[in-house]
Amino acid sequence: MRSVPLAVLTATLVALSGAALAADEPKNLVDYRSAVMRSLGGHAGAIAAIVKQQVSYDHVAAHAEAIAATAPAVRDVFPENSGPDDYAETDALPAIWENPEDFAEALEAFETAAAAFPAAAQSGDRAQILEAFQKLGGSCGACHEDFRAED
Ligand code: HEC
Repeated sequence: MRSVPLAVLTATLVALSGAALAADEPKNLVDYRSAVMRSLGGHAGAIAAIVKQQVSYDHVAAHAEAIAATAPAVRDVFPENSGPDDYAETDALPAIWENPEDFAEALEAFETAAAAFPAAAQSGDRAQILEAFQKLGGSCGACHEDFRAED
């Protein structure tokens, strides 16, 4: 009767060790970072369509809040083992890890702009929304300029 529990235990351990091996592998880290970035890009693209008045949806505040809620996660998605030496498919440049102070500045500018955006979005004032959106977009672009490889 020992064989059944042992088999169950063994299967569980195999599954757990498989999960432990897969977690935080460079490819998974890069894929996750891409997913986070694409989510920011999706919301920013939706806001752009609204502020350009291509659509008349009144969703700017919802997208602004989604960006503000996601922004603090961005500093987590650049761990050491997720650079081009670890996984060639990434567009993250080595400068991220070589110039951590400059990278931290880019992160802070982005976090500040993202945190300020929901209040501007809720104001309903077009000029205020545009200004806050430009600041936010500028902070995305500044980081990409220095720390992201061009396609
Ligand atoms: C602190 C730096 C930084 C900030 C801030 C930042 N990004 Fe990025 N972003 C990157 C880097 C680095 C990459 C490349 C990631 C990779 O390939 O591993 C990237 C990639 C992307 C991608 C491509 C994702 C893919 O794999 O298809 C999009 C879209 C994107 N960012 C949008 C945004 C938007 C929109 C913002 C602002 C709301 C933003 N990013 C803010 C550094 C940043």
